[in-house]
Amino acid sequence: MEKKNIDWSSLGFGYMPTDFRYNAEWKDGKWEKGGLTSESTVTISECAGVLQYAQTCFEGLKAYTWKDGSIVAFRPDLNAERLQNSARRLLMPEVPTEMFLEALDETVRANAAYVPPYGSGATLYVRPFLFGSGPVIGVAPAPSYIFRLFCTPVGPYFKAGVKPIKICVSDFDRAAPKGTGHIKAGLNYAMSLYPGDLAHKKGYSENLYLDAKTRTHVEETGGANFIFVTKDGKLVTPKSDTILPSITRRSLVAVAKDYLKMEVEERPVAFEELSSFVEIGLCGTAAVISPIGQIDYDGGSINVPSGMAEIGPMLGKLRSLLTGIQNGDEKAPEGWIRKIM
Ligand code: PLP
Ligand code: COI
Repeated sequence: MEKKNIDWSSLGFGYMPTDFRYNAEWKDGKWEKGGLTSESTVTISECAGVLQYAQTCFEGLKAYTWKDGSIVAFRPDLNAERLQNSARRLLMPEVPTEMFLEALDETVRANAAYVPPYGSGATLYVRPFLFGSGPVIGVAPAPSYIFRLFCTPVGPYFKAGVKPIKICVSDFDRAAPKGTGHIKAGLNYAMSLYPGDLAHKKGYSENLYLDAKTRTHVEETGGANFIFVTKDGKLVTPKSDTILPSITRRSLVAVAKDYLKMEVEERPVAFEELSSFVEIGLCGTAAVISPIGQIDYDGGSINVPSGMAEIGPMLGKLRSLLTGIQNGDEKAPEGWIRKIM
């Protein structure tokens, strides 16, 4: 398979239209047979549910080229399941797992030339999404929906790559108790744009959000979960009903336990505890593992002992194991890899 002539190593995290995407419509109570299209634009009613009341949710996953040229995806069944959870909370029709996986396979196969080569450091980011396309004017669920899935080759999410970043504690809240923090609703990201812009203007890569109810516990950032390493080598990660159940975080918990024999604690993490951790990182599909060197808050600053120069030893190990599993260099746990071609 001849790959596209793209400078893979200079890719950032941006959108580059590829040749095909998958599109399916839900109307009259059922999904029509979806399929590939080369049309990269979408035409919908001016009164569509997504445009009026933000009835939309999405997923993010990646595909990789292995050394032998095969192309795989990492745990896409969990993305299908999470999209179903998001759809239920937003009163949208669920995309059956089989249909989700068919859309993934067909789109990635049709764009195989865009899946970055093994060893390039870049990956194919896959963006499945679901939105209300039919008209609503009273507040109500839309009468029809579109499920679409496109892909785009990407490099690192943060400009710094694997270099530690600086983040700050946001004055704004990300998710209300019993709100929508646990699903991947577009509205969660719309409301994070303003606090995100404030943070960027002050020179921070991301915001740390505290729990909205007490503002004493660490939740997550705008686009990733947290992981922490204690002085005695334990992995700690926040447990909360108002954060997104990150597939990367769930995978890292398993990798830490089973591959590195680390003790893992999934529990509420008080902001006060942060200065006791020796390594702090963000994890997510886009972020992979991004180390954090400094966390600023109103009236102070936490300098993480692993510093601003490079990723710490434990997060470094976890990162290379995870990316090794994704790139085919490490043996994957049963069921984690979907071979696409
Ligand atoms: N938290 C938020 C708010 C996110 O947007 C993401 C990205 O998907 C994550 C966490 C990480 O989730 P995952 O590892 O499933 O990509
Ligand atoms: C992902 O990691 O897939 C995400 O959706 C994060 C997003 C903020 C780019």
